Parts: sequence; structure tokens; C-alpha cells
Amino acid sequence: MINVLFVCLGNICRSPSAEGVFKALVKDEGLDEKFFIDSAGTSAYHVGEPADSRMRKHASRRNIQLTSRSRKFGRADFVKFDYIMVMDGGNYEDVISMDRSGEYQEKVFMMTEFSALYAGRDVPDPYYGGDAGFGEVLDILEDSCRGFLEEIKRDNEL
Ligand code: 4NP
Repeated sequence: MINVLFVCLGNICRSPSAEGVFKALVKDEGLDEKFFIDSAGTSAYHVGEPADSRMRKHASRRNIQLTSRSRKFGRADFVKFDYIMVMDGGNYEDVISMDRSGEYQEKVFMMTEFSALYAGRDVPDPYYGGDAGFGEVLDILEDSCRGFLEEIKRDNEL
């Protein structure tokens, strides 16, 4: 089993979308039985809540249903997951700061590292912005998830 965790701040916009986009890609390739895919937030601001309704609306236009409930990232996630995919530099710092020994550092990646089309480092936080931000997040995530899955397939000889 390949365990993948997507992480953002609130776990109601970017990481639930990344989870939904990546699950759809994996399913399309017939690889769903090889993966456990989840998401979490570095904050507890929205714990227990479903994904933001604006994010869900934009995702469902692309036939992606977001069904996750927000939960907080915890130290146990370092053990449980093989790939910890963070959305921005703040998430990266927050996650890395919870791994004081540094032993899990090589599991933590910036999502955009795998993007072919997007030159920015951060997946921008759409929460306080306008409607267009949600579509932009999905564009970046679709591109990054595609590149990420190709990398995993190479790494794991799938
Ligand atoms: P996310 O977006 O990290 O992509 O889920 C946010 C959602 C809520 C807040 C910040 C970012 N907030 O501050 O409540």
C-alpha cells in the first residue's frame, strides 16, 4: 500500500481538493487498490467540517466530489504516510517543525514540485479570495497530481 497525505492550513480547501483530484486520477488508472489517500490541516480551525462549499462547487463541476471532514495533522502521520504533500511554504515549516529529529523530512514534499505548468512555489490559499481562485487551485492541483502520480509510478515500479 502506498500512503499519501495532502496537507494545507484549514483542510477545507486545498488539501481536500488535492485528495479528491488524486483519488480520481488513481481510479482512472485502475490503481485505487494500491493507494490509501487522505488529507489533514496544520490548524484545528475547521476540525470536523466538510470542505468549503465554494471549493466543493468548483470541484463538482469537474466531476470531483469532495467528501472529507477536516482533521488536524499529527505526529503519527509521519509514521503512517509515505508521502506528505504540502501546499505552501507555511505548511512546510509547520509540518517540518513537528519532526524535531528530522527523521521524516524526506517524506515531505511541496505539491508544486510536481507541476509542469505552474511556476509558483505555493498553491495559493483561495479562502479569502474571489471565485476565480478556486478554479485556479484546481488547475494547479490537477497538473501537480498528474506529475506526482507519474513520479510515484516510477518510484514504485507500478
Ligand atoms: P485551506 O484554506 O488551508 O486551503 O483549507 C484555508 C481555510 C481556512 C482558513 C485558512 C485557509 N482559515 O484561516 O480559517
